[in-house]
Amino acid sequence: MLRTTIKEILNHIGEEVEVCGWVNSRRDMGKIIFIDLRDRSGLLQIVITPAIGKFYELAKNLRSEFVVKIKGLIKERAAKAANPKISTGKIEMEAKEIKILNESETLPFEIDKDTKKIGEEVRFKYRYLDLRSERMRDNLILRHKVIEFLRNFFCEKDFIEIETPVLTKGTPEGAREFIVPSRLHDGKFYVLPQSPQQFKQLLMVAGLEKYFQVARCFRDEDQRGDRQPEFTQLDLEMSFVNEDDIISLVEGALIKMAETLFPNKKILKKPFPRLTYAEAMEKYKSDKPDLRKNKDNHDELAFCWLTDFPLFEYSETEKKLVSAHHPFTKPKEEDLELLNSPLSPFSKEGGKGDLSRVRACAYDIVLNGCEIGGGSIRIHKKDLQNKIFEILGLSKREIQERFGHMLEAFKYGAPPHGGIALGLDRLIMLLAGEESIREVIAFPKTGDARDLMMGSPSEIPEKQLKEAHIKVD
Ligand code: AMO
Repeated sequence: MLRTTIKEILNHIGEEVEVCGWVNSRRDMGKIIFIDLRDRSGLLQIVITPAIGKFYELAKNLRSEFVVKIKGLIKERAAKAANPKISTGKIEMEAKEIKILNESETLPFEIDKDTKKIGEEVRFKYRYLDLRSERMRDNLILRHKVIEFLRNFFCEKDFIEIETPVLTKGTPEGAREFIVPSRLHDGKFYVLPQSPQQFKQLLMVAGLEKYFQVARCFRDEDQRGDRQPEFTQLDLEMSFVNEDDIISLVEGALIKMAETLFPNKKILKKPFPRLTYAEAMEKYKSDKPDLRKNKDNHDELAFCWLTDFPLFEYSETEKKLVSAHHPFTKPKEEDLELLNSPLSPFSKEGGKGDLSRVRACAYDIVLNGCEIGGGSIRIHKKDLQNKIFEILGLSKREIQERFGHMLEAFKYGAPPHGGIALGLDRLIMLLAGEESIREVIAFPKTGDARDLMMGSPSEIPEKQLKEAHIKVD
């Protein structure tokens, strides 16, 4: 007999079916044993009476989290015995046969309470138990639905999903990179991508025109509630587009997704308000303004776009000019002239020729005060790209070594193109009403970038180090 899931059970009243799952709780009422059985889809009350003989004896051994297979008759409960709190509250199963598939020790923490109150050290070490809790399971299901929706949306719009490499060379996105030693090439390293940025641009050069990917990105930066060393982007790129095209496409996707999957949430303003960077800084002193009426209300969705970012910013830590977004971002047509004027040093005051005045064809999307995505129209001409690298202080040799392949590609009919990446973890965190992206990632890292369950990062055997040509200092 094929196992029936609990959510399907209402279609089987009066029938005998087989269910599988975990003992969520057990109550003994005189001679009758009640079990709440849990599977991924819900809870079902099972009634076990002495009438089933040896199976009844077996049921006496059942404890929380034992894994069982139970065959029985689905019956309507007496009206006064109904439990309106669960979807199967009007029915129950009268057990006929019971099989214990596995036993369980007492769990290190209770999973029927909100596990958020339990310390991360324990929760993350036993993440597979934490994920048994209703909230965490629902968060993962919600994550799946959002990604499924967006993937279908872009497929329907004729985008194709293309995987780009994870073992690659650095692409500058502002963070430190994770490096992977090469066994075959002594002293050489791969770098894990901070984003598929360069590959997606090269796919435009390749003539693919509409690319997207649910892409894993890696950044070795200090952790916060909205940052993880590996995270997921809904990354996309298109040829022959302007800023408005990308903005309205993504806005359409987000509105349709929110209205379809979250009918109880309210999008505060449609179309999404657009603010220039200068306006936002003046009005809200922030480039991530929270435009909700009630800042604690998770059901208000206040999206807004930020545009006209500066192309460059001065990095106090590096003591030099850096790209505000990334060096592939196109300067505004009107500001190109500023790149040609005799350049004065970057100064906060501004002034003629001051690079701080150059604006970028870049945009961010903000939801409830959190940056959930960013993108830009790209440079597609070799000379302008080269000039930007020079302004950023890269030597001819550095440009060649790090970005020679991009400049080379731009020689062969590179189309105008642009794109965006949505930070899926952050978007899903906000939709789930959670405070941290760790609550919507199956196996996240701790604040200091450890995986307590697997025990990573970890030392590796001497032999492996040797093969990778590494000496640990
Ligand atoms: P950017 O660096 O702005 O752009 O990243 C896009 C979005 O990714 C999310 N994000 C993160 N989420 C979790 N943990 C992190 N450490 C983290 N870092 C970034 C944010 C952010 O808005 N290649 C460009 C996109 C483009 O130009 O098309 C890029 O990666 O939500």
